[in-house]
Amino acid sequence: MGVDVILGLQWGDEGKGKIVDVLANNYDLVARFQGGPNAGHTLKFDGKKFVLHTIPSGIFREGLMNLIGNGVVIDPITLEKEIQILIDAQVDYKDRLLVAKKAHLILPSHRLLDAASEKAKGKEKIGSTLKGIGPTYMDKTGRNGLRVGDLFESDFKEKYNKLKSKHLGLAELYGAVDFDLEAEEAKWFSSLETLKALNCVDGEYYVNEVLNEGKKVLAEGAQGSMLDVDFGTYPYVTSSNTITSGVCNGLGVAPQRINEVIGISKAYCTRVGGGPFPTELFDDIGEQIQREGGEFGATTGRPRRCGWLDVPQLRYTIMLNGVTQLVLTKVDVLNIFESFKYASHYVTKDGSLSKQLPFDLCNSDQQVQLESVAGWNQSLEEVTTPDQMPAALKDYLNLLEKELDCKISIVSTGPERDKIIYMQ
Ligand code: GDP
Ligand code: IMO
Ligand code: MG
Repeated sequence: MGVDVILGLQWGDEGKGKIVDVLANNYDLVARFQGGPNAGHTLKFDGKKFVLHTIPSGIFREGLMNLIGNGVVIDPITLEKEIQILIDAQVDYKDRLLVAKKAHLILPSHRLLDAASEKAKGKEKIGSTLKGIGPTYMDKTGRNGLRVGDLFESDFKEKYNKLKSKHLGLAELYGAVDFDLEAEEAKWFSSLETLKALNCVDGEYYVNEVLNEGKKVLAEGAQGSMLDVDFGTYPYVTSSNTITSGVCNGLGVAPQRINEVIGISKAYCTRVGGGPFPTELFDDIGEQIQREGGEFGATTGRPRRCGWLDVPQLRYTIMLNGVTQLVLTKVDVLNIFESFKYASHYVTKDGSLSKQLPFDLCNSDQQVQLESVAGWNQSLEEVTTPDQMPAALKDYLNLLEKELDCKISIVSTGPERDKIIYMQ
């Protein structure tokens, strides 16, 4: 019973999609609680690869219900494309995919504003995925937004036009940007039919009824805790609460319903877009990690910046989320190294070592203290249980558990569904 949560502890792309898919069969409902098509969650099984942006990663598991929660922002054009992928793969989704009526809609003019705002920022741009996320959440908190439930009201078009003209006024302030609004609107209105044909529900009642029936819910996060609008590397963040507290707002469940919080971290660190990244590597090693790990964005195809694991940062996000178990992914990417590093401390302005992240992370060239560890430097292809792990890998996991004061429950050694080692 209750809600378990899966979320990313870094800057996104930790492998949330894979782990949700792996664990989904233990649940009755998988529910996305925030973010939108800025997310790209990759699943690999039976020689096939799927990338989901809006649809929860439980959709490929037969008989399992999936909910796009009220905290998610939906672009009907992206959603329609994702549904087409399900149709092509002959996935029976119709009775298993629900959409919360209180989820906000991303309009074409939100995307226009996203592009215009980024262009106007110049060198200081966030590196947004340009999916309209920021402007849509701004309209939500500014009390101007349009929601899925509004699509069924007779005055929808009127409300749409009103919001669009507000956006066009704002866009003038930012300056011109290359965006074919008319063409995008035509696609948008056509894709609305696909969205309206889905089962649109009062998500908060639905989730609570499921829980009251004694069933199990898995809440799927998007982005990562360091992109959280309150606690991430502001302003280089996304516009939603990506941490555990976002589950309550994004699904309509009370805090005491939350059980396990499964935090996912790569065995190293990546970031896509702008913003501080204290353990970033600018040398061959960074490139090696990028190549071995296939570190290119699942949504935008942009190369991901790569660096060493940042232990103070993980300690911070474990604290913020109340993580009860840790999942370490992409451990296989470190197979190539005879030794590798991790950051144990941040160096403060007076030169002392700190286990905490400073407030002004974005304003300074932050130095970190790095420690070396011996690598296992061998393939993990045949390793399926903890006792088959090379001693150096076991030592590394023990070290992290000690440093982070958190149990590692799962280690992931490849992108495929079956490349998984359960630690207990
Ligand atoms: P998400 O946004 O957190 O779901 O992660 P993404 O799908 O954006 O990026 C994770 C990438 O790593 C995808 O290409 C996955 O297929 C891949 N991946 C996930 N787990 C592993 C792993 O343990 N090892 C390797 N080599 N790749 C993995
Ligand atoms: P998943 O769910 C990695 C980053 C963008 C940019 C910043 C703001 O796949 O882990 P936005 O489009 O939200 O305005 O962009 O956040 N970003 C992500 N980085 N993974 C994601 O999602 C991301 N979603 C947004 O690159 O730096
Ligand atoms: Mg991703």
